[in-house]
Amino acid sequence: MTMTRDEEARAILAQNDRGGYTVPTDGLYPYQWNWDSVFAALGFAEHDMNRAWTEIETLFSGQWPNGMVPHILFHKVDPGYFPNPDIWGGTGPIQSSGISQPPIAATFIRWLLDHDPTQEARARALFEPLKNWHRWFMTWRCEGGAIVVTHPWETGRDNCPDWDGALAAFEPTGIAAYKRRDTSEVEAAERPNQWEYDRYLYLVKLGAECGWDEAWLRDNTPFRVADPTMTFTLLRSTRDLLAMAERWGEDTSEIRNWIAAMEAGSERLWNPDIEAYDCYDERAGTHTGVISNASFLTWYAGVGGDRMLTHLDRIAGLTRYQVPSTDPAHPKYEPKRYWRGPVWAMLNMLIATGLGEAGHAAHAQALTEKTRDMIGTNGFAEYFDPRDGAPAGGRNFTWTAAVWLAWASPETGRTAWAA
Ligand code: DGY
Repeated sequence: MTMTRDEEARAILAQNDRGGYTVPTDGLYPYQWNWDSVFAALGFAEHDMNRAWTEIETLFSGQWPNGMVPHILFHKVDPGYFPNPDIWGGTGPIQSSGISQPPIAATFIRWLLDHDPTQEARARALFEPLKNWHRWFMTWRCEGGAIVVTHPWETGRDNCPDWDGALAAFEPTGIAAYKRRDTSEVEAAERPNQWEYDRYLYLVKLGAECGWDEAWLRDNTPFRVADPTMTFTLLRSTRDLLAMAERWGEDTSEIRNWIAAMEAGSERLWNPDIEAYDCYDERAGTHTGVISNASFLTWYAGVGGDRMLTHLDRIAGLTRYQVPSTDPAHPKYEPKRYWRGPVWAMLNMLIATGLGEAGHAAHAQALTEKTRDMIGTNGFAEYFDPRDGAPAGGRNFTWTAAVWLAWASPETGRTAWAA
């Protein structure tokens, strides 16, 4: 008997569950990744609320004393992955990477709480850790109100063309010989290329050598790029943090200041030449000129009005499935290569959520239905070719299964916005 897509999605979550945390997919990513886990929690929430909370609590058990919540927690070392904790030299309570990832947790902790208020104590216990994480961003990663990253992996959009200029500005000298593992799991044509990979490792080496000293990195790293993924997710999450602070009568002044800073600072990501939000390379002092799927998180962040609507409609006419990770009109668009073109279902959920909340119900609904069709037809791939929905990257992917259950499934999905 064949399984329904809902049953398959639940089976994927169960298969990728390592007990208290979920791996993004078996083999390619054998650890706990930060934002992958938050999406996993949404998937679990559909049928096991207790397990949903545990996922996020496990993530926060790896929080560093300085507030940073790492992008990877290496709970149990797997020699099949590279780079492993010895290369990262993380300094937290659990072996980890030394960078963070898009801070969507506050938003979805609030979402879990709204769906199940009986777990209020668990949400409340996460309030201070969340605030400390947000403070880490605002202390170390805020340039004029826009949020910068010190590694492309931090944004999750590893090989987006946004990084090409900043990566070309330095030579990856002194990295030890290494063997990639990702290309034994997935077609090399669907992964970052070697030129990029050498530079990713150089930036890891730089961070590890200074002991992930954020003050040193701020002054010395060649890679410091303000990014819409981080700025828009942090701004959105900080609004949700504010709502929780108000609910529990916590002090709100610091949180309000952060929101005001990012509302103003997000303007630094507006590139008048292409009339779109893109990245801003702090070292070069230039915009990167790439319209990505992260550019469309503007509604989710609650800034910019409808400035991106024309681009959204234009791009919808270029490919069968939306939203491609790089604008198909950009010369560096590659529809099968990771973040240089493919569609990512979990980003679609965030974009649709923002559109729905901003009153663009038809756009939100269209994106929901496209994503439903894309996953329903092609299964739970890591990402999809925008031209025909062909599955790409890893398979049996946690976050694709999770956003199916939480949002895109016609049976279990709920609109993530108030209708
Ligand atoms: C990888 O290993 O390729 C990941 O994207 C790093 O987060």
